[in-house]
Amino acid sequence: MQTEDILICPGPNEIADRVLRAMLRPGVCPVYDEFQEFYEQTLDLLAAVFQTKNQVVPLPGSGRSGLEGAITSVLEPGDRVLAIVCGYFGEVAVRIVTALGGKADVFASPWGEPLDLEALAQKLAAGSYKLVTMVHNETSTGALYPQVGEVARLAHAHGALLLLDAISSLAGAEVATDAWDVDLVVGCNHKAIGAPIGHAYVAVSERAWEVMARRRQPCGSVFGNLLAWKARPDPTATGGRA
Ligand SMILES: Cc1ncc(COP(=O)(O)O)c(C=O)c1O
Repeated sequence: MQTEDILICPGPNEIADRVLRAMLRPGVCPVYDEFQEFYEQTLDLLAAVFQTKNQVVPLPGSGRSGLEGAITSVLEPGDRVLAIVCGYFGEVAVRIVTALGGKADVFASPWGEPLDLEALAQKLAAGSYKLVTMVHNETSTGALYPQVGEVARLAHAHGALLLLDAISSLAGAEVATDAWDVDLVVGCNHKAIGAPIGHAYVAVSERAWEVMARRRQPCGSVFGNLLAWKARPDPTATGGRA
């Protein structure tokens, strides 16, 4: 039976029949060439969805595993983060940063209203932030925040990276990673891509790789350390070099 109504934003999404049929195929061992070919092809297709030449790193888990991997990889204890919060999901980054020993300041914006970029610039100028986080499509209100390029410019002008939570927008709205110059863009399978839950994706800029390479302390996570996935495909095909 063909699905007619497709729910893709808040989830759980509906999965197209041809995706479900594809999942009936037997799995392929990751050390086989066939897997490597499929893996590389998938990453290239993902890069097209993210509109980027940057590497896209898949991390098993839900959307939050992508957010946590991205933040863990660049954050060190005591680092300051400015989280733009315009709804429930903006708070997720605050919880992750705090759990990792970072210091999260909130730039609170009225739910559903456009961002005040002037006020954001002032907040950025007043602090010394390593990372700015924002949600592209705030699922709790349904509001899309298209000023990502402007926020990236402001973050970079103040020496910070920009992380974009595109979990509920990727493949459903324009996510122009390179044109907007975003450092860490997080998406996942189980929203507008229309696949079952199980993978998050992080598109990583050169600027973000450099921050990871220059860490004073090693990353506190093996699984979530994006730097371990930098060379692709991994020659052992077992995932990561850590
Ligand atoms: C914008 C946004 N960020 C983060 C999340 C958390 O993702 P997950 O529940 O897959 O961990 C969601 C989930 O709906 C979301 O919509």
